Amino acid sequence: MRDAHVVVTGGGGLVGSRVVALARRAGASVTVLDRFDAYPEDVRELFGLDRLGADLVAGDICDRDTVRRVVKDADYVIHAAAYADVAACTRHPDVAFEANVRGTETVLEEIAAAQVRRLVFISSAAVYGNGRPDVTGPQVFHEDQPLVPVSVYANTKLWAEHQARLMLVGPDKAEFTVLRYFSVYGDPQIPKPGSHSWMVAWMAMHAHLGLPIHLNGGGVQVRDLVHVEDIAAATVLALVAERAAGQIINVGTGRPTSVRDVADMISPHFPGSRQIVTPLPEGDPLGGYAATERMRDLLGYTPRIGVREGVERYVRWLQANPQAVPQWLAATAADRTA
Ligand SMILES: NC(=O)c1ccc[n+]([C@@H]2O[C@H](COP(=O)([O-])OP(=O)(O)OC[C@H]3O[C@@H](n4cnc5c(N)ncnc54)[C@H](O)[C@@H]3O)[C@@H](O)[C@H]2O)c1
Repeated sequence: MRDAHVVVTGGGGLVGSRVVALARRAGASVTVLDRFDAYPEDVRELFGLDRLGADLVAGDICDRDTVRRVVKDADYVIHAAAYADVAACTRHPDVAFEANVRGTETVLEEIAAAQVRRLVFISSAAVYGNGRPDVTGPQVFHEDQPLVPVSVYANTKLWAEHQARLMLVGPDKAEFTVLRYFSVYGDPQIPKPGSHSWMVAWMAMHAHLGLPIHLNGGGVQVRDLVHVEDIAAATVLALVAERAAGQIINVGTGRPTSVRDVADMISPHFPGSRQIVTPLPEGDPLGGYAATERMRDLLGYTPRIGVREGVERYVRWLQANPQAVPQWLAATAADRTA
């Protein structure tokens, strides 16, 4: 990585900013391409973006001239920019299509025409949907099993996986690796309005504000919660791991945790907090956990932070940084108590 030039689309987001920090520590020069409008302005400070020593380009991945200019001198591209919230994609499929399909097409076309060594495309475990219908209870998701997405978001990710293969296979093309992240959490994750993803941040902030913790669908869904530090490490390894070229790789811990389990880990930190059962939102899969053999074999990586430790770290960070609670969420709590 030393002296390599890495472009990170979506580098202004939670995952992207952690990846940028790690790539910088590994000695790479980094350019971020991001719209920088996914969060309120003050979140930028929490993500530490201006302290990472990266070149920050404010722009849209649909803007061909900007994408061309940014990838022109790149050795590696991590394409993480996306309309990244499942519920928002369901509410606004046109916006999801614009960012996740048209924007990705633009990035792929410009990479195909440049001298990029490798693209790492950030996909999602959402492509597995509810997994195999013949299995009851928490199930393991293998990279090669049939994919049955159950949301607009997942459809856009699956299209992009296929399109990357279509456009980048062949002589003189950039190598590509697809990473299917499972459920990313860890500070400084900030919930988005109307979202039902990112449950650690949601639940901890609700409990912190005295709002009830929602157990959508009773909280029986399982997730494979993988800490953002582990996500960033696996992603940077995927840029250079020789045998990762042309591969689709899960990034998870290989352990299922139910939504209710997470609530039970968070509640004791906030005496008096309440849990209430709420309906399962549209497009919220029952979930599963990652088969991790490929990640361990091809990337040589095993996640280091267990969910209990990661949840505790998030709670401690939130208690030390109460200003991280977004205004719109604090206003909800104020309305309830008024
Ligand atoms: N967080 C998770 O649990 C999770 C799980 C699986 C996959 N992913 C994927 O990981 C990637 C990063 O997710 P995140 O959690 O950091 O989300 P995030 O919302 O924090 O980051 C996404 C970034 O992309 C930028 N962006 C969106 N549309 C853009 C556009 N048209 N042009 C330029 N920039 C644009 C946003 O401004 C934001 O900074 C996404 O591709 C997401 O789909 C995330």
